[in-house]
Amino acid sequence: FIAEIDADDIEKGTYPHFMLKEIDEQPFVIRKIIQEYQGDNDDIKLESDIRQAMLDADRVYIIACGTSYHAGLVGKQMIEKLAKIPVEVHVASEFSYNMPLLSEKPLFIFISQSGETADSRAVLVQVKEMGYPALTITNVPGSTLSREADYTLHLHAGPEIAVASTKAYTAQMAVLAILAVDTARAKGYELDFDPMKELAIVANAIEALCDQKDVMEGIAKDYLSTTRNCFFIGRGIDYYVGLEGALKLKEISYIQTEGFPGGELKHGTIALIEEGTPVIALATQENVNYPIRSNVQEVVSRGANACIISMKGLDQTDDTLVVPEVHDLLTPLVSVIPLQLIAYYAALHRDCDVDKPRNLAKSVTVE
Ligand code: AGP
Repeated sequence: FIAEIDADDIEKGTYPHFMLKEIDEQPFVIRKIIQEYQGDNDDIKLESDIRQAMLDADRVYIIACGTSYHAGLVGKQMIEKLAKIPVEVHVASEFSYNMPLLSEKPLFIFISQSGETADSRAVLVQVKEMGYPALTITNVPGSTLSREADYTLHLHAGPEIAVASTKAYTAQMAVLAILAVDTARAKGYELDFDPMKELAIVANAIEALCDQKDVMEGIAKDYLSTTRNCFFIGRGIDYYVGLEGALKLKEISYIQTEGFPGGELKHGTIALIEEGTPVIALATQENVNYPIRSNVQEVVSRGANACIISMKGLDQTDDTLVVPEVHDLLTPLVSVIPLQLIAYYAALHRDCDVDKPRNLAKSVTVE
């Protein structure tokens, strides 16, 4: 049995593409997640077995592919910083053939929008055979990965039809933040972080950005209408969002893209910067605001056309776009919105099939 949804059954409404509709749905999805996971008296509503599995783990292994893998990278930061459990994030297809040395009490977390990704399922089958516990975070609770794991956390994002994943990504990170806080509280840590309150701020910030589509369309036209390539740079959590921005843009616009850490530029990639090369830089983290800005200077002085997306409070005069301020750990949910919209408009202006890019399927059910 494969849980499938027929795209024709789901209306695009007034939207020209599912991708744009799904980008716009993100504030509602975040609010829905708050509602679904909000317990009584500020508690988080989560199955006690899941809480216990997190408490029992000496190390968490996150397994995923594509966009879900990028959400996992952010999830690692959340779980390590809040719940203080070491986390490894692995691309499923690599993990199954090159399994690393495992800890004594691992917990496997599978992140998958569809819950049907064959590469992830192959790892789940392996680790279940080895007797390890597994939790699936998915948008489709009846899916294979959900049924075969011990526990499931639901994304509540509603059907995602466009091949380019958008609302599932932000939902995955929201659920990972809630899971991290729940574990931290169960361990007795005092946190200065109320996830529901902070996610409500995120939902408003996403809404404000979705109202600036003309700005994102302008950026797509200015930077990407004729280019053959585009680079995304960031540091720390911004680097992970850059990876997602690069994937989004390449899969629907066929522009060759690369996301990399700002500090790595000088170790090779800077050789590719020429007059007019677009470089999208993310600056939402205070601790790396200075170094990422010097990386921007490095590329600009070699002719790059830099587009700087910063967060309010860390912004500087020449920044291209300033996103509203949210909690440090939740910036990816907000800074990815312009990247999704820029990718959408770039694909549109280059006459690409936005919802069904060539050579790609929504769920990759073959290894
Ligand atoms: C992202 O836009 C993709 N089309 C793709 O990378 C996707 O995220 C990946 O195939 C994983 O899918 P899943 O979340 O359904 O497992």
